[in-house]
Amino acid sequence: THPSAADRVAERIHVIPDFPETGIQFQDLTPVFSHGVAFRVLCEALVDPFEERFDILGGLEARGFIIAGGASLLTGAGVLPVRKAGKLPRRVITETYELEYGVAALEVHEDQLPPGSRVLVIDDVLATGGTALAACRLIERAGWQVAGVSVALELQGLGGREQLEGYEVYSLLQR
Ligand code: PRP
Repeated sequence: THPSAADRVAERIHVIPDFPETGIQFQDLTPVFSHGVAFRVLCEALVDPFEERFDILGGLEARGFIIAGGASLLTGAGVLPVRKAGKLPRRVITETYELEYGVAALEVHEDQLPPGSRVLVIDDVLATGGTALAACRLIERAGWQVAGVSVALELQGLGGREQLEGYEVYSLLQR
């Protein structure tokens, strides 16, 4: 029997204890990105549940950029880069959020997409949900729609799914 998409991705996620701070079990997806087949399987898995229901992939900096880029070439949809504050050169919308470790802000160009564009939010890990919720708020404040939130790995027990209540959330893996 062939391994499932979830198995092929899961076996390449490395867990690093106490990074970047004591008590954080860092879920490192770089070995998934480094493996062409596993990377493709991941990108396919994250867009499949939302087929025909999005216009563009909203990649969250930084690892979400990689997955959104791969999924873009598979689907023909473009990428909306949802960036950390201070990186985008034109007029932006800013949304601050609390991270599993620290505080940050995300930004998009306010005029990046046509009104009503359906954005599928893509990231590697959903933990507290703060990052993804900030992205959803940005998308809506900009006049676009959230098609859903799709992540490789959902860390359970941190409230991410609850924070995103009202949005369709898909995770390939749960830990
Ligand atoms: C990580 C991860 C998610 C976010 C999840 O990114 O890639 O974007 O944290 O945490 P949350 O659900 O608690 O918000 P990080 O902020 O470390 O940024 P990076 O990808 O630029 O390193």
